[in-house]
Amino acid sequence: MNYENAQISEVAAQLRQRFAELENKQDILRAVELRALYSQIPTLPGDQRASFGQEINQLKQELEQLLAAHKDQTEALPVIDVTAPKDVNAAFPQLLPSKQGSKHPLMQELEMVLDIFYRMGFTAVESREIDDDYHMFGSLNFPEDHPARDDYDTFMTEQTDANGKRFIAPAHTSTMQNRVMRAGLDDLAAGRPIAAVIPGRVFRNEDLDARHEHTFYQLEGVYISKGVHAGNLIATLKTFLQTYYGKELQVKTQPFYFPFTEPSFEFAISCPFCDGKGCNICSQSGWIELLGCGMVHPNVLSEAGIDPNIYTGFAWGMGIERLVMMKYGIEDVRYFESGKLEFLRQFS
Ligand code: DAH
Repeated sequence: MNYENAQISEVAAQLRQRFAELENKQDILRAVELRALYSQIPTLPGDQRASFGQEINQLKQELEQLLAAHKDQTEALPVIDVTAPKDVNAAFPQLLPSKQGSKHPLMQELEMVLDIFYRMGFTAVESREIDDDYHMFGSLNFPEDHPARDDYDTFMTEQTDANGKRFIAPAHTSTMQNRVMRAGLDDLAAGRPIAAVIPGRVFRNEDLDARHEHTFYQLEGVYISKGVHAGNLIATLKTFLQTYYGKELQVKTQPFYFPFTEPSFEFAISCPFCDGKGCNICSQSGWIELLGCGMVHPNVLSEAGIDPNIYTGFAWGMGIERLVMMKYGIEDVRYFESGKLEFLRQFS
C-alpha cells in the first residue's frame, strides 16, 4: 500500500520490516511509531488533520491484515481427505508442534496436588473409568436398594458382570477404597499405615450449570493405621489446603451422611479470596464447602479384611475442579471440558 504522506510512508516501511522480524507478531499493533503518529493529529493545522488521520487508519488496517494473514498461515491445518485411498508411501501425518499444545490446567494443578500429598507420605493410585456395582456401592456399605444409592446417579452399560449387574461409570473415586485397603494389608501387618490418594475422572447424571458437570475429577484419600482419629483427618486436610492455597486458612466440619464413613463430615475452609470476610465467591458467607470426609466405617474396613477393633482410619473425596476454581476465581465449571482456547491459554 502507498501512502501520500512521506512520514507515514516511512513508518509503514519500518513497521513492515519489524513485523517480519517480530517474535510476538501481535506487538506490531502496539508500535510506538504508530502511537506517535496518532498523537500528532491534534498538533496539525485543521485542514490536514482528516487526511493524515485517514492514512494512519489505513496503515493500522494494513498491519491488522498482515497479522490476520500470518495467523491463517500458522493456524490453518491442511484438510484431510478421509475418502482418499490409503497410500502406503505417503509421508507420515505431521504431528502438531508441541508449542501449539499445552497441559490442561486441571492436570497441571493435579500434579501440584499429588506432589504435596507425596511429600506428606501418600502414594498415588489411579482410579478407573468403568467399574462394577460392588466397588461403587457394595464394598462401601450401601445396602441393596438403599436410597443413599440415588445420590450417585450415573451412567451404566447394557453389558452386565458375572452377578448380572451393569457396569458403571463411577460417580465417585471411593470405588477404589476397597482395592487400596486390600493392597495395603501387608503394610498394616508390617506396622506401616495405608496412605493413598486416588485421582480419577467421575461421572454423574446432572442438570448442567455453572457448578455442575456430568464429567469431573475427584481426589480420594485413604489413611488407615492404629489409633487414627478425626483430629488427624482435620490436620491432614488443613495442612494440604494451606499448602495448596499458600495461605493460612480456618477450617470447620459439619456433620453429614455418607454410608461409608461414621462419623461423616462436610469440610469447609475460610474463603481464600476474602479470608472469611464475605465476597461474591463465597456468597457472602466467608466459607467454602470443599469436600466430604469422615472416619472409615467399620463395615468398610471389615469388607476389605481389616479388623476394625485394631485399626481405624479416615477418608475424603474432593472435587478437583472446585479446588482449582477457588484458587483462580474461575466462575463456571463447564470451562474445563469446553476446549475453549481463550480459557486454556490463560494457564499455559
Ligand atoms: N464419595 C463422596 C462423594 O463423592 C465423597 C466422600 C465422602 C469420599 C466421604 C470419602 C469420604 O472418602 O470419606 O460424594
